[in-house]
This record gives sequence, C-alpha cells and structure tokens, in this order.
Amino acid sequence: MSASQELERAATNHALEAVRLDKQGARGMAIAMYQKAIETLLTLVQLYPDYGLNQVYIQRARAYQQRVRVLQGAGPIHSQMEAPPPTAKGDSSSVEKASFDELVLKEKPEVKWGEVVGLEQGKKAVKEAIVYPVQRPDLFPLGWPRGILLFGPPGCGKTLLAAAVATEIDATFVSVDAASIMSKWLGEAEQNVARLFNSARKSANNGRPSIVFIDELDSLIGRHSSEVGGEARVRNQFLKEMDGIIDKGKNVHAYVIGATNKPWDLDWPFIRRFQKRILVPLPDHHSRLGMFKLYTTNLNLTPDVDHHELARLSEGCCGSDIRDICQSAYLKVIGEFFESGQANNKSAKPRPLSKEHFKQILEDRKPSVSPQMLEMYNRWFDAFKAL
Ligand SMILES: Nc1ncnc2c1ncn2[C@@H]1O[C@H](COP(=O)(O)OP(=O)(O)OP(=O)(O)O)[C@@H](O)[C@H]1O
Ligand SMILES: [Mg+2]
Repeated sequence: MSASQELERAATNHALEAVRLDKQGARGMAIAMYQKAIETLLTLVQLYPDYGLNQVYIQRARAYQQRVRVLQGAGPIHSQMEAPPPTAKGDSSSVEKASFDELVLKEKPEVKWGEVVGLEQGKKAVKEAIVYPVQRPDLFPLGWPRGILLFGPPGCGKTLLAAAVATEIDATFVSVDAASIMSKWLGEAEQNVARLFNSARKSANNGRPSIVFIDELDSLIGRHSSEVGGEARVRNQFLKEMDGIIDKGKNVHAYVIGATNKPWDLDWPFIRRFQKRILVPLPDHHSRLGMFKLYTTNLNLTPDVDHHELARLSEGCCGSDIRDICQSAYLKVIGEFFESGQANNKSAKPRPLSKEHFKQILEDRKPSVSPQMLEMYNRWFDAFKAL
C-alpha cells in the first residue's frame, strides 16, 4: 500500500471512530478522534498536493472541524449553514439505549506528552500519582493516590492529559462519558458502572495497570439529568466502586481519573475520593506560544507571522480555540487555492499563511471563557485544591 493510501485509510479509521464515539455521546474522546482525522487529512493534502481527491479531503476536514466546534460548545464561527455535523446527535426523545461495550472505549487514543502543551502542574501531578508508582512501586511504601480529578474551563486539555497518561504507562484504559452513562444505560447504569470497575480491577490484578477515565464527571451527580431516574443509585454505586479501588491492596495499579468543567456541581463525597485535585487552567502567554508553534509546525508561513504576537492577540483563548484558529487559517488558504482552479496547475502551490490570515480569524473570536468564570475555577481550586 502506498503512503498516501495508508494515510487515507488512517484518516477514514479515525473519522469512523470519531463518529462512533460522537453517537455514543463520548464528547471528549470524539473531539480527540475528529482532531486526529483532520490532522491526517491535512497531512495528506500537504504531502500530495496534486492528488485528485484533495478537494474532497478539505471538505471533510472542514465538516469535522465544524463538528468539533459544536461539541466544544463554541458553535460555528462563520456561518450556521456551513457543513452539518457528520452525525446529528439525536434529540432527547430518540435516545437509544446502548450496551456496555458500545459505551466504553477500550482503545487508547495514543496521545504523546509532546502533544500536551503547558499544564506543567497537571503533568507533574499525574506523573507523581500514576506514572512513578507504576514504574517503581517499591519506592512507595505508603501507597499512592488512586483518584485524580482534573477540572477547569472547556478546551484546555483535561481529556488530552488523561489520554497522554494512558499512553505513557501502556495501561488498560477504559473511558466512559458520565453524561452518556446517565442517558444511555437506561435502567442498567448501576450494573454497568460495576462492570466498568470490575474490568479495570481484573486487568490490574493481572499485573497490567488500568485507568478508568470518567469524562464530564459532574453529570453523575444527576442534578441535570432528570430523564432517567435512579441517579442516586448510580452515584452510590460509583462511590462504592471508588472505595474499592482506593482501599484495595497497596500494589494494585487501578486508577480513576475524573474530568469536569463544573467542579462546583460535585459534592463532598465525590470530591474527597479524588485525593488529587488538579486545575487545568486557561493557557498563559507562554503556553499559547507553544500551541501556536505546535499547530503551525507543518504549515508554510510568511516571515511576518510572529508567534509571540499571535500568543498576545489570543489572550483568553483555550487550547482548542488555538488549534481551531490554525486549522481554520490553513483550510481557508487551501480552500481558496482549490476554488480558484490553481490546483490544476501542477506546479502551483497554495499561498503561505500570513499574519493577516490569522488576524482575520482572531478578530472573529471572543474568548470562550469569561473572567468571572475563571474566577470561579480559581476560587474552587483555593477551597479544594489537593496537589
Ligand atoms: N494544553 C493543550 N495542548 C495542546 N493542545 C490542546 C491543549 N488543550 C487543548 N488542546 C486542543 O484542544 C482539543 C480539546 O482539548 P480537550 O478535549 O483535552 O479539552 P477539555 O479540557 O477536556 O475540554 P472539555 O472541558 O470541553 O471536555 C485537544 O484535542 C487539543 O487539540
Ligand atoms: Mg474533555
């Protein structure tokens, strides 16, 4: 198989997986997979600029990008009419019941540490809590924490960080989205939560570390999901299972990572079972700089593009915004290239991306997180932090 066919196949696989996750309501993992699909399509277009299907790839990348925005809660920036989501999430009346295997993601999304920019405190904390004990349990005679809560504003890398840990320790990674537990395991949520932890424990008992990742943890509290009932039972089952993991023999490597952007919805029984509580904050100047560098690595830029300036102009943006800004700028330029018919001329190349391209997109955006919201995260961190 040629390299281009291989990339094409990888893009298709990522996209299929993304759509599957999306249908199940596993928002965070779906976003990560759509991103992988977009990235692969763009690499394909860049490596093989003459390829006949490139326009189709660009359209697909745009559709996935649109979907990522919707999932991230930002919604489309330009036009509401642009590319409908690849899968429409059913309205609440058409919620389908899902089996255990359908909702639980057992494949790891393969995220490397280098893909997680900044978040030094978070990386350090997860390494201390999970990576080192897995490498040298003998150095931790007093045991180690089993529950880690990642909280912070949307799009700043909580899901990404959890995926990176799983990749690092080659753990069994069972990931499930709490919102879909509540809405899609109708009547069986309690048993399925037990199965989830059982499968993690089984793997840990066999000597392979395992991580249960619960995204959107706040949904388990049940304040918002009124459609199912029985939340209290699911919630108690979850607390009981967590106790099982915390108290188990000191050498078993089973961990629970919970992520939420609404930590204030959690109550004390939940909070206290996560011995480590880590704020995943909005990126500062330095991290935004790193993200612009990361997301433009493979792009052709004019000399007037100054990453420091982009970092300065994007104050208040989250990681997901910055990735979106870079992708949007690039898709715009290559989209124009194809639309103008220049692509038919085999020696023609798309224009490099200029400062102006980035500026236009940056001007269309407002920060996705308000200062009031940030203040709430900091206050919660001050009250409940545990590093
Ligand atoms: N620190 C970061 N470094 C690199 N990329 C990032 C970072 N934070 C976010 N991104 C980009 O944004 C995407 C979304 O991030 P992620 O899903 O991890 O955010 P989140 O904090 O889990 O958001 P939510 O609260 O909405 O679930 C990532 O797939 C990645 O492309
Ligand atoms: Mg997430």
